Amino acid sequence: MTTTLGIIGTGNIFPAYLRNILRAQRSGKLRLVGVADGDMAAAERRAAEFGIVAMTVDELLASEAQVILNLTPPLAHHAIGMKVLGAGKHLFSEKPMAATFAQGLELVETARKAGLRLGCAPDTFLGAGAQTVRALLDAGTIGPVRHGYGFFMNHGPDHWHPNPAFFYQPGAGPLFDVGVYHLTHLVNHFGPVQAVRAIAHKTHAVRTIPLGERAGQKLPVDVATHVIAHLDFASGPQIVLTSSFDVWKHDHEPFEFYGDDGTLLGPDPNKFGGKVRWNVQTGDWQRATDKRPYHANARGLGLVDMIRAISEQRPHRCSAELALHVLEVMESTLKAADQGGAVTLSTTCDRPAPLDTKLF
Ligand SMILES: NC(=O)c1ccc[n+]([C@@H]2O[C@H](COP(=O)([O-])OP(=O)(O)OC[C@H]3O[C@@H](n4cnc5c(N)ncnc54)[C@H](O)[C@@H]3O)[C@@H](O)[C@H]2O)c1
Repeated sequence: MTTTLGIIGTGNIFPAYLRNILRAQRSGKLRLVGVADGDMAAAERRAAEFGIVAMTVDELLASEAQVILNLTPPLAHHAIGMKVLGAGKHLFSEKPMAATFAQGLELVETARKAGLRLGCAPDTFLGAGAQTVRALLDAGTIGPVRHGYGFFMNHGPDHWHPNPAFFYQPGAGPLFDVGVYHLTHLVNHFGPVQAVRAIAHKTHAVRTIPLGERAGQKLPVDVATHVIAHLDFASGPQIVLTSSFDVWKHDHEPFEFYGDDGTLLGPDPNKFGGKVRWNVQTGDWQRATDKRPYHANARGLGLVDMIRAISEQRPHRCSAELALHVLEVMESTLKAADQGGAVTLSTTCDRPAPLDTKLF
């Protein structure tokens, strides 16, 4: 069975997806019908670059595409997502699922009532790095994990993104834009969060783009840019996650997990591969050497898994429940920082099934 696919949003992240979708297309299990963007000229440029078909959003939604990949910025995710589901098509969205939990919930409920699949990035937890971490944790290598840290800290996207304004608007910021990777990996490893406490600061009210075509442009900051969340996982671990756009350099591991029998260090969850190390009690560091697929850019893996899951009639790994739970954790983090004390989560989710086979 061949599933037909369309893409809305042909900006900065588009080529990373497209290369893998074209690779996956060779299996014959999916076929790209066309790409669309609110800016038709942008869609046409990408169509010429990759030898694919550009359409308007309405043309794509009226086309034979059965699944739509939404690569628009966060504030557009809900409106585009509702249109896609309204057109009777399965939806896979870039992260976060929506800018607010209420919008995410509406997407999930709409998809469920319509009998449509809803999947969401990030899919990096399906890569070799996170799958190795999870296998080691599940095997009890460091015993029950009690505590740990996650760190995402840099100086924001002003240095590399061609149009970084959206990163300082609701739906983005360091927590919703990158902390979402750490949270998704943590839920994959330990299951759902039951409560969160937090501190959040908007360190600067305005940012200035330092280089490129927009150098000197002032960006209003409407989000917290340094966020520290204390995450209480229902299965036991207490993890502190720091997400920041205010730090020039640091020397922390992306993840450190402390168990009864040892310590495990995990790689950058914004990437698919990376070094995994652990030790037992006073023993030396050991490095994982097992061979797993997807060490480098495999963006689109979660989408391909969802497409395969439709024909195989099984749950897909980047599930709506997982993404909605992570969205609620992020919103609750900001709420906890605002009001003080702990915020209890209303959602839960299953840990996604491990991935040990190649999907493309
Ligand atoms: N850039 C990255 O490195 C990166 C990495 C991982 C994930 N993401 C995620 O991918 C998504 C897109 O990011 P990006 O960096 O490609 O953004 P971008 O601004 O470069 O591109 C977004 C595209 O969407 C189009 N668009 C905006 N609103 C639209 C609407 N309502 N209807 C149709 N088209 C619309 C814009 O014209 C633009 O071409 C975001 O959710 C982001 O978090 C980006």
